[in-house]
Amino acid sequence: MLVLGIESSCDETALALVRDGSLVDQTLSSQVDLHALFGGVVPELASREHGRSIGPLYDLLLQKCGLGAEDIDGIAVARGPGLLGSLLVGVAFAKSLAMALERPIVGVNHLHAHVLAAGLEQEPTYPSLALLVSGGHTHIYLVESPTKFTTLGRSLDDAAGEALDKFGKMIGLPYPAGKYIDDFGAGVEADLKLFPRPYLDNDNLDFSFSGLKTAALNLLKAQPNLRFLSGPALPEGQDGITLQNYCASYAQTVAVTLAEKTRRALAACQAEGHKIQSIILAGGVAANSRVRAELGALASEAGLPLIAPSARLCTDNAAMIAYAGEILLKSGQAHALDFAAIPRGQRVPDDYVLCAF
Ligand code: KG4
Ligand code: ZN
Repeated sequence: MLVLGIESSCDETALALVRDGSLVDQTLSSQVDLHALFGGVVPELASREHGRSIGPLYDLLLQKCGLGAEDIDGIAVARGPGLLGSLLVGVAFAKSLAMALERPIVGVNHLHAHVLAAGLEQEPTYPSLALLVSGGHTHIYLVESPTKFTTLGRSLDDAAGEALDKFGKMIGLPYPAGKYIDDFGAGVEADLKLFPRPYLDNDNLDFSFSGLKTAALNLLKAQPNLRFLSGPALPEGQDGITLQNYCASYAQTVAVTLAEKTRRALAACQAEGHKIQSIILAGGVAANSRVRAELGALASEAGLPLIAPSARLCTDNAAMIAYAGEILLKSGQAHALDFAAIPRGQRVPDDYVLCAF
């Protein structure tokens, strides 16, 4: 079975072909340089760029693979959550193809696809506990099978990636700052007393990163010289703390907070009798070295494998959409042509129709 995957939920237009669980090839156009000029994603510009890129990327993909449109057996498209205008470009393109080629179509939950992406490299064992950390979302899921997800906790405000990107903006790093903070703080010892570990003093499995952001803002207000500027010298804070310490400490605070709630979620699942077989770490922030290290330590403490995809499968891509779509289509779940794109903040419904695939 050859499934075409289409991703356009934020600032990456991507298409991929997956055959029987393996990636055939993919094409991707990132808008990151465009949005970096504005310090964040501008939704209107993102939709326009998707509209401009999607057709040529589709042609290029088929050409690279030496395949024709008639070789495609099914179509999968990210239906949300994401930026509505951006999603609509991918969904409309996918629906048009499904109509023209008379092939089944399925709208894929972008967040579930992030979690399932690891399966392209390594077959996860279920039930699994999954931590999804991206620029827009932070979720803990109990994943009983590739089609059965239960949300155990989520961010009540900023996502982990957003908390990193906003901190990066405060200290003068380009958008999105997560990777720069990671690289810049690499090998530097973190000081966990610099920032408060946010929202741990409760017994739920949700996250809240806005307090951490405010703490950083207040700290930096008192130290206006502590910013990245173009020039050879790196500034130092009044107390001798360097920007590298700040980056390392902020990222480590995010990492230990994520690991602590995941540890509690694991204990809660086990107490309910779920025989968890693995921990999955997914989403753009899963590329972070400190988050990987903390989750790795948790997994070995629990005697479980940590399943984390390689960096190229952590950030937004269409391979994960095609892969998740193939799983859905093979389990008989497809969509009628009137299924809706779902904006960020709204629940993605289970409104599948049966299909034979
Ligand atoms: O999953 P993703 O590509 O897009 C969304 O669905 O949001 O995640 C993007 C996020 C951004 O916040 C970016 O700063 C973050 O992933 N990110 C990282 C790293 N690489 C990407 N954050 C920390 N460390 C990294 N190495
Ligand atoms: Zn994403």
